Amino acid sequence: MSLDKHIEKVLFSDEAIAERVAQLGSEITSQFSGDSEPPVFVGVATGACLFLADLVRRIDLPISIDYIRADSYASGTVSSGSPRISFDLKLDITNKHVFLVEDIVDTGNTLSCLIEHLKLKKASSVSVCTLLDKPSRRKVHFKLVGDGKFYSGFECPDEFVVGYGMDFAEQYRNLSYVGVLKPECYM
Ligand code: IMP
Repeated sequence: MSLDKHIEKVLFSDEAIAERVAQLGSEITSQFSGDSEPPVFVGVATGACLFLADLVRRIDLPISIDYIRADSYASGTVSSGSPRISFDLKLDITNKHVFLVEDIVDTGNTLSCLIEHLKLKKASSVSVCTLLDKPSRRKVHFKLVGDGKFYSGFECPDEFVVGYGMDFAEQYRNLSYVGVLKPECYM
């Protein structure tokens, strides 16, 4: 059965995502264009893989790229609430501007843990760009570092979404859009 048949509804189409990613790319390029030290873009694995790949191609600056991983979900649709860093940066970010790229901010637990970690590693600023934000589900109010800024692609309704990097039980990341799964696919 085709992957599309597992999807109940499309929330953000390929075209809508591409348009928003291009806008974010030019806003972020303007944010850093006056800086002598270009930022380090850090993708939060695995969910941000597609978003990071598309976003960095819209950034017209000599950036560097790294990955970090924080695990908080087992294989269900509810966060465990206590993320831990399970794969760390390769680059030294001391005194660097860091730009965290996330797929989705839900309770805020993961982001808060990541920001604290980057702060301990002495980043001079931490900005965040998430493709999706679910503010209605926020439990932890994270604080950015230095003059870091928060960017969000789209506000997401309180539904479990998959696609464009986001998974259910490690599947559906390769969908080119974001959608809601049919209940029979996760029951
Ligand atoms: P938080 O710690 O609750 O903010 O959750 C953040 C992480 O949970 C994200 O980086 C995603 O990997 C995952 N997550 C949260 N909501 C969803 C969803 O609707 N679909 C897929 N993954 C999600």
